Amino acid sequence: MLADTKTNTAKLNGDEKRETLTITDNRTGKAYEIPIAEETIRAMDLRQIKVNADDFGLMTYDPAFMNTASTRSRITFIDGDKGILRYRGIPIEQLAEHSSYLETAYLILFGELPTPAQFKDWEYKILHRTFLHENIKVLMQAFRYDAHPMGMFISTVAALSTYYPEAHEIHDADTRLKQIIRLIAKVPTIAAYSYRHIRGLPYIYPDNALSYTGNFLRMLDSMTHSKYEPNPVKERALDVLFILHADHEQNCGTNAMRAIGSSHVDPYSAMAGAAAALYGPLHGGANEEVLRMLSHIGNVKNVPDFIERVKKGEGRLMGFGHRVYKNYDPRAKIIKQTADDVFKVTGVNPLLEIALELERIALQDEYFIKRKLYPNVDFYSGLIYQAMGFPVTFFPVLFAIPRTVGWLAQWQELLLDPEQKIARPRQIYTGHSARDYVAMDAR
Ligand code: CMC
Repeated sequence: MLADTKTNTAKLNGDEKRETLTITDNRTGKAYEIPIAEETIRAMDLRQIKVNADDFGLMTYDPAFMNTASTRSRITFIDGDKGILRYRGIPIEQLAEHSSYLETAYLILFGELPTPAQFKDWEYKILHRTFLHENIKVLMQAFRYDAHPMGMFISTVAALSTYYPEAHEIHDADTRLKQIIRLIAKVPTIAAYSYRHIRGLPYIYPDNALSYTGNFLRMLDSMTHSKYEPNPVKERALDVLFILHADHEQNCGTNAMRAIGSSHVDPYSAMAGAAAALYGPLHGGANEEVLRMLSHIGNVKNVPDFIERVKKGEGRLMGFGHRVYKNYDPRAKIIKQTADDVFKVTGVNPLLEIALELERIALQDEYFIKRKLYPNVDFYSGLIYQAMGFPVTFFPVLFAIPRTVGWLAQWQELLLDPEQKIARPRQIYTGHSARDYVAMDAR
């Protein structure tokens, strides 16, 4: 939705047009005039539409929020038909080319690009909060050797709330910022520990002299005490991937963050819920599913067969389709370019050939064209991650690290929005009407 606020009257062709909607209730014959602002009507304005005084009033029914705005937001703009994504107004393509993840995180959180002094301070604060309490390490060590790293990530983020009890003071701006910095700083360390855990390797402490992604790569890969130099191509590629994943307006995980945050719980608990939502195969778990799908297809010659099965409804083409984008996901375009850079260093992922063929066939197939199904961010990201040596179970964690800033910016926006209250949808009850309890021996 566009940010410009329209008034309820507008001049159109010289005539005064009212920015309202007139609804006639055919049950009563009454007409109601409802304001339209920002191309939206307020669902609560329908509540006045009643058959009689005892009537609850009209509701809207919108499973999965297909046509309901749950908030006004100034953070991320998406035009799904045109394939546009902007953070705070700046196109994702420009940020991917010129910015860094930490600079983008600042922009998302504070609304403006930082000055050099602001950036220096921000970077210092993040890079000096990367350590975890030693007991968190012990907690993570207690997971099974084959634990899914995303399960470890979610649980550990939730556990952090017990280490920072002041975090429940969510209405204090300084306390809020402290938790935001902590979370952005600590998620790579949690992620890296989960990665080392499933590999049976000792956890590596952060090195605050390295960049955000350089330090992360070191915590993942360093095997000796000798100086670790992150590969600059991998370091930059990861930074670009982090920029692309930093926010995506009201997606499932962010909606979870806002819904949980609306109860005024601390941000660690809310973010654990958001990360759990991200874990699902229809959301951030999709890149993991893409890799499984490509491995299952196994060979380019099996692609047409696979597409036919998808069209028969026997499965989905993972990494394709999006609730909002009805065009090529702009992030997928940038990822495809980044993949070329990474493959020059790592060698080409053999599954790339299958992915390219899937894309080629799907983009000219009537089934996909009609439904406007295009590659989304997850279609190529998994191939890069795999080429960089990450196991597929780690992919959603690589999504959760950068999304942390998006979740927190949206959470803060929610808390500062005077219109927001505890998220509590209505339902249409379709169960039994009142009936009596039947004793066990009489059933
Ligand atoms: N493969 C085959 N058919 C599809 C696909 C797909 N990937 N996605 C949608 N369709 C079909 C669907 O069967 C339906 O067809 P019909 O009208 O004949 O019933 C039509 O397209 C509309 O689909 P929908 O499920 O109503 O669309 P949605 O907006 O509810 O779902 C989606 C969006 C992303 C969940 C879905 O496209 C999907 O399951 N894609 C695969 C999973 C995936 O790649 N997810 C990552 C999303 S991007 C990153 C993120 O959000 O984390």
